[in-house]
Amino acid sequence: MIILGIETSCDETAAAIVKDGPSARASTELSRTSSGLRILSNAVASSVELHQKTGGIIPEIAAREQSKYMIPVIKEVLEETKIKNQEIEAIAVTHGPGLIGSLLVGVETAKALAYAWQKPIIPINHLQAHLYANFICEIPNHKSQIPKFPALGLVVSGGHTDLVLMENHGQIKWLGGTRDDAAGECFDKTARVLGLGYPGGPAISAAAEKFQISNSESQTKLPRPMINEDNFDFSFSGLKTSVINLVKKQKEVDVPMLAFEIQEAITDVLVMKTIRAAKKYRVKSTLLAGGVAANSRLREKMQSAINKTQSKLYTPPPRLCTDNAAYIACCAYFNYQPVSWQRVKVEPSLRIC
Ligand code: KG4
Ligand code: ZN
Repeated sequence: MIILGIETSCDETAAAIVKDGPSARASTELSRTSSGLRILSNAVASSVELHQKTGGIIPEIAAREQSKYMIPVIKEVLEETKIKNQEIEAIAVTHGPGLIGSLLVGVETAKALAYAWQKPIIPINHLQAHLYANFICEIPNHKSQIPKFPALGLVVSGGHTDLVLMENHGQIKWLGGTRDDAAGECFDKTARVLGLGYPGGPAISAAAEKFQISNSESQTKLPRPMINEDNFDFSFSGLKTSVINLVKKQKEVDVPMLAFEIQEAITDVLVMKTIRAAKKYRVKSTLLAGGVAANSRLREKMQSAINKTQSKLYTPPPRLCTDNAAYIACCAYFNYQPVSWQRVKVEPSLRIC
């Protein structure tokens, strides 16, 4: 099966083509999980340079840029794979959550293509789809790469932080999430306070690495909100406020040290809650997903903590953690539920489940 994926929920404009193994059209659950799904092409156009100027995303600017890039990225994946539109078997598109103007660009394009090409269309939940970056086979027919159920999923992105239990494809239970800011938002906002620019996650991570290399000892200890509470919820706004207050108080800010401490505080909480859930639900697999899952310190700490449990950790390659359309198409492959194009609507406030 060949699926075209389209993603425009935030500031990226993305298209991808994925294909399963030799058995051309997989129709049963068994063949879906055993054949392996590969990326044939994955194109992402980003307007990050524009948002860097304003220190964050201005929704209308994002949507206007996306309307310029949408057709070119679709053209790019078709040309790169030399796949003709007749060979595309389904179109998968993010219909929420996200910025309304941005979502409309992708959804209306996908509907027009589905109508013109007479193809099935599958609306996709962006947050669930992030988890499917873990179900893409980088090595063809390498079955052990595919996570086994029950699986625990930690979705950490710019706008969301959710812990979910995946009993199977389409059987997802919410365990907890953030009560205020998302983990990625905390990276982005504290980075802005430190003058590190946008997006904040990679900038904090780079500054923190400088501090780690210097082998010095951190002189600051930031709070780890809710770390000891017996639930799977998170809170990051207090951490952000602590950083703001600290920066206001200090004459000279040690940016690398503070970046290191911010990264330690965020990752300590994420690891602690995830491990607690992995043990409680005795999951076979633990999946990291979302832009923050690209953070190497988080991956390293999560791996060493998971090694002490029965669960196996899955982390997508960093380029598949941040927004792209390959995992949108992959999610559609494993949750194949086409609807008529008239019924596809944007859902800006969709929850993970
Ligand atoms: O999943 P994503 O690309 O978009 C959303 O759906 O939100 O996530 C973007 C978020 C941003 O907050 C960004 O700062 C964060 O992911 N991020 C990182 C890293 N790379 C991206 N956070 C920490 N470390 C990174 N290496
Ligand atoms: Zn995302």
